[in-house]
Amino acid sequence: ISKIGVLTSGGDSPGMNAAIRAVVRTANHYNIECYGIREGYNGLIHDDFTRMGPRSVKNIITEGGTILKSARSLEFKTTEGRKKAYENLVKRGIDALVCIGGDGTFRGAKIFSEEYGIRVIGIPGTIDNDIFGTDNTIGYDTALNTAMDAIDKIRDTATSHNRVFFVEVMGRDAGFIALNSGIATGALDILIPEKKDSIEELFATFEKAEKAGKSSSIVVVAEGEQLGSIYDLAKATKNGFPDYDIRVVVLGHIQRGGSPSCADRVLASQLGYGAVIGLMEGQTKVMAGMQSNKLVYTPIEEAIKKHNEIDKNLLTISEILAI
Ligand code: F6P
Repeated sequence: ISKIGVLTSGGDSPGMNAAIRAVVRTANHYNIECYGIREGYNGLIHDDFTRMGPRSVKNIITEGGTILKSARSLEFKTTEGRKKAYENLVKRGIDALVCIGGDGTFRGAKIFSEEYGIRVIGIPGTIDNDIFGTDNTIGYDTALNTAMDAIDKIRDTATSHNRVFFVEVMGRDAGFIALNSGIATGALDILIPEKKDSIEELFATFEKAEKAGKSSSIVVVAEGEQLGSIYDLAKATKNGFPDYDIRVVVLGHIQRGGSPSCADRVLASQLGYGAVIGLMEGQTKVMAGMQSNKLVYTPIEEAIKKHNEIDKNLLTISEILAI
């Protein structure tokens, strides 16, 4: 390969810049020309490319977000959109794409590669950590620490006022942030999409906490949790326990921003390097990931299909330690 393109797509995550930097500098090291594509697949369609040399990525390793910008491209879901994208790649003589993002990004890369034979490699960048084939996704560690810091602060005021807080963290299909930030902050209960919960069980947990003498509690709720909205949960709890002073906090997009943690910068550097090496070795339609400290390539198809699994032990631990 002599020319590659790199893009970030879907929800951004802290460390995407570090991954871009690693792709650009590894490509430069092996004399491969590298082009940045702006706003995910939209840039492919609208011919928004920029040549990236090693100095173009200076100092970005510390920055959250993505200098290439990101988007969830609706146009790329259409055959016409992908045709335009292909024509732009041909015009520029680009042989392969590095696509940084989550499952939506990989789905796009897979279809594109199957339709036009373009070589693609994925790098998992999402705070959700729901991608199979890598122990962690880029941005997850930072988001987790952001959530933990925020919940620690909520804990202070919850204790002062003897209050019950319902805190919503991100993860529309996955409970990794909720489970891990909940354990790290000593949450009374953690509600995640992967586990069937019921309002009766939640109430039983509150009763147990009361008996144990708890005067304040935090319940961490994943965005994609099945019991209903966090406001409905708070309302139902107020009906069941009229004496409780209840507050709701939705952490939202603060979890997606901020300077990446050390772990995310290192992971992004490993995967950015690994993606370029993979392309040089002839890999395509795979995702670069780290498993037990080893660089591995997983077929994109598997990465999308098999959801990363929650550690059941962590669920047990959270229940035992909560009281
Ligand atoms: O996939 C990452 C994620 O942050 C999810 O946790 C969340 O549900 C979603 O993106 C939010 O998307 P948007 O930024 O489009 O509101």
